[in-house]
Amino acid sequence: MTGERGSAADEPAERRIVIAIDGPAASGKSSTAHWVAERLGFRHVDSGALYRAATAARLRRGDAPEGWTEASLLEAARDVELRAGAGAFVPLVAGELAEAETRGSAVTHSVSRVARMPGVRDWVNARVRECAKRYDVVVDGRDIGTAVFPDATLKIFLVADPWERARRRLTQRLERRPTDEEIAEETDRLVQRDAKDATQTVQAKDAVLIDTTYLTQAEQVERIVALARAITQRPAPTSPVDGE
Ligand code: CDP
Repeated sequence: MTGERGSAADEPAERRIVIAIDGPAASGKSSTAHWVAERLGFRHVDSGALYRAATAARLRRGDAPEGWTEASLLEAARDVELRAGAGAFVPLVAGELAEAETRGSAVTHSVSRVARMPGVRDWVNARVRECAKRYDVVVDGRDIGTAVFPDATLKIFLVADPWERARRRLTQRLERRPTDEEIAEETDRLVQRDAKDATQTVQAKDAVLIDTTYLTQAEQVERIVALARAITQRPAPTSPVDGE
């Protein structure tokens, strides 16, 4: 398998490989997608990072999220561009990475409201599909295997127990062991965001469900890489021989 394809002229579009990884908040989609892409030599596209970048760009305009219109979101999203890095497409807000801002609580609080706007979803989906025109990609999000790439080569739906998701997210954010009280509060926030995102978080019928509650990150990456290799190295079905 090679990550980078030739021009559209020498490589038909249907040969591109798309691995879709969907699941609820903090189910480990992005980090898993990152490592799967690295192992396969593909590029990682984090669709949630685009929703976050658009939300950050809109927050920079200063007025309260309750009054935001779809048109004003799309106008702010003009400040967002996707930069192609070695192994990933990374969104920039007004030319900067702005990681702390896009992962911060103000963006996290308003991103679901933004993600419910159909025009914003179309904008994100168009950006993501552009990435997949030239590269084999691992795309993570909530509706990648259903709305964005219904014909993806491999679809994964990652789930994990909410308490465990909260524990992992806090450990990553705080860089120390969180207390039970902190985990309980974060679990509440995650469950609330899951509810807000419920309509757009859809498991495709043909997705492989992986519960990561008792898996290490290396184990879940390994499983997905093995599934991807099994699918992409499978010989094409032979056509029936005339007369048989
Ligand atoms: O990492 P985490 O699961 O917390 O969220 P994310 O992947 O960064 O996505 C942030 C938000 O974007 C989600 O809470 C959804 O509201 C939205 N989103 C979406 O609606 N559809 C996607 N394909 C990806 C993200």
